[in-house]
Amino acid sequence: MILDGKKLSARLKAEMASRVAGMEERYGRVPALAVIIVGEDPASQTYVRNKVKACEETGIRSIHIALPSGVRERELLDQIKRLNEDPGVDGILVQLPLPPHIDEHRVINAIAPAKDVDGFHPRNVAGLWLDEDCAIPCTPKGIMHLINESGINPSGKRAVVVGRSNIVGKPIAKLLLDANATVTIAHSHTEDLARVCREADILVVAVGRPKMIDGSMIKSGAVVIDVGINRISVPTPGGNISRICGDVDFDSACEVASWITPVPGGVGPMTICELMGNTIEAFLRSHQE
Ligand code: GUN
Repeated sequence: MILDGKKLSARLKAEMASRVAGMEERYGRVPALAVIIVGEDPASQTYVRNKVKACEETGIRSIHIALPSGVRERELLDQIKRLNEDPGVDGILVQLPLPPHIDEHRVINAIAPAKDVDGFHPRNVAGLWLDEDCAIPCTPKGIMHLINESGINPSGKRAVVVGRSNIVGKPIAKLLLDANATVTIAHSHTEDLARVCREADILVVAVGRPKMIDGSMIKSGAVVIDVGINRISVPTPGGNISRICGDVDFDSACEVASWITPVPGGVGPMTICELMGNTIEAFLRSHQE
């Protein structure tokens, strides 16, 4: 069965839109999200476009800031400072990766934790691991939403996360742990990865390598969450065409999995949907104080 992120995110965004519609009257304004992109990376541009589109769908005000790839780090930090100090801005997102001359850690640290809708600031990372009320990274949050909405209960199950990034691997491991799964984090140095993956009742793959996991590495009846978004070139009689594929070989995985996320249309739309949710939460938190 398909874990349909496109469908769930559409429903959640419609619910958010009706909540946001009531905020203008109640609070005098709607939530606002600033999205900063540095440079012209085509994948990042697509992600940012989709984020701005989701703002339009939910009624959230978006502020799109595009900076040239050669922008000085100082200028980016100053921009973030202005947004931190702007009471009309609730969320700030700096699209990653950044050009190599800019220190990613310094940039993430510069975002006010209360406006860090990505949940990447050390304060929010600590908050997640210490079970505090804080922004939770969008992709892991979206994955849990998808799992829960489908009636899958991770409690007592073996979960294997392939990939140990700060954006996905580490936080999804924590969220699965919170849901009482027994969690293993596997990575590029894991010995006999296929055997480790076959132990998983819930397999989350976030490595960024096209079709790295196939059906032979998946336990029968497992839930498979594919976080990968890889652009590959596929030869056809009319020439090569570009296609998006996941980190999981969908066709062979389908044969053995009970539930699986498609790429596209699985985790991707959920990530963007949770970003809208985090922006609304940041707005509400700031209005509670
Ligand atoms: N680049 C890839 N994923 C993400 C994300 O979730 N947030 C940001 N800011 N950049 C990303």
